[in-house]
Amino acid sequence: MSEVRGQMTETNALSTSDILVSHQHDGLSGQFAVPGDKSISHRSLILGGLAIGTTRITGLLEGDDVKATGNAMRALGVTITREEDGSWVVDGVGTAGLQSPTQPLDLGNSGTGVRLLMGVVAGLPITATFCGDESLSMRPMARVTDPLADMGAHITSREGGRLPVTIKGARTPLAAAHTSKVASAQIKSAILLAGINARGTSTVTEPHTSRDHTESMLRHFGASVTQTTAADGTHHVALQGEAILQAADIAVPRDPSSAAFPMVAALLTPGSDITLAGIGMNPLRTGLITTLQEMGGDITLSHARVEGGEAVADIRVKHSRLHGIDVPADRAASMIDEYPILAIAATQADGTTRMQGVAELRVKETDRIAVVADGIAAAGGTVHYDDDSMTVTGSPIAGGVTIASQHDHRIAMSFLTLGMVSDAPITVSGCQTINTSFPDFATLMNGCGAQIASAGDQA
Ligand code: S3P
Repeated sequence: MSEVRGQMTETNALSTSDILVSHQHDGLSGQFAVPGDKSISHRSLILGGLAIGTTRITGLLEGDDVKATGNAMRALGVTITREEDGSWVVDGVGTAGLQSPTQPLDLGNSGTGVRLLMGVVAGLPITATFCGDESLSMRPMARVTDPLADMGAHITSREGGRLPVTIKGARTPLAAAHTSKVASAQIKSAILLAGINARGTSTVTEPHTSRDHTESMLRHFGASVTQTTAADGTHHVALQGEAILQAADIAVPRDPSSAAFPMVAALLTPGSDITLAGIGMNPLRTGLITTLQEMGGDITLSHARVEGGEAVADIRVKHSRLHGIDVPADRAASMIDEYPILAIAATQADGTTRMQGVAELRVKETDRIAVVADGIAAAGGTVHYDDDSMTVTGSPIAGGVTIASQHDHRIAMSFLTLGMVSDAPITVSGCQTINTSFPDFATLMNGCGAQIASAGDQA
């Protein structure tokens, strides 16, 4: 299986089409080239800008969310350029070199971009206003702005702590000692980024360990960061402040959260056998793989290696008969973005899949519990939910419905995947949002055998 099928980086008709229709197909095969990790891409542009010297980034995700972060860093005074070979170069100015932007920073759909950059601005003597799209403007920001205000930043926001938010950063930020109610890498990262300039040690404690890419990258740039996990799962991070970051090259691994879609598509469609090379294997991101294997998924990992300081492996996925399981609450942080596609997988499993401890899904790009459950029910599936859990019982899916993405890329890709196994095709509107994290999703899927068409075209 050496042939690389469907590899494409140019903008094409499918990636610009807003309404897509997904039909049944004869199985997926070949190699699937998933794009770069979104979380690591954001952080590489931000930390590259805060460092002194030139950072070269390979494998950067060229999705709308990451572009928004890059543009915001430019507005803060950092020069970022794309080289002909596809690598990106960030000319870091050091924390002292950032300046107040002349216009509001528009982070579009990106929760990670806006929250991490709020942390950056809060710890520097600069002022910025943050705004975003309809979805981002509905999402809670007080979980980040409250601890940043405790560090000395002056912050105003729309009612309810929503965007637009204006932050006048602290000239001499206080070190943080924050205990978060939720395991959130965005909250943790915002505080750590503000803590770079604080005198003393900033600490963040979270109930479970959320993804630790900020901690790893801060160390990669020369900062002193320690992490400890207590017997009850509580995670504690400490950053030594007044850190001077030195530029360092970064190789971004391929995104396990994007790999989730072709993985589930291959498991569900008879005849499938695909390989996804070089996928990030940070153990705080691999909860879905564990879950799908427990459900009976034929998923094999090989060539485990370290590339550019990140653990990666190749993943081979074959069509499998799945069965329902209970997904424990303490796994939620390691697969928080993967519940929509797991729920789709569960519609095709024998028996019932219970997902617990998933309340955080309610404050993502959409209320993902409600939007996934309503969509599955509309397509003919069986699903129940409450504030903190979702239960899906496997059954044939009629399809023949239109699902609105509601500015949520993972909702759009999840229901296009469901359309591959429903009796009648599933139409998804608002597919432009897929460009935030996975610009060539439909083209790459079709290159491996899927039948996703623009509305009006024949599949
Ligand atoms: C992200 C953290 C996660 C995840 C988001 C990306 C990050 O959110 O949902 O897509 O890059 O820090 P929380 O950990 O804040 O819930």
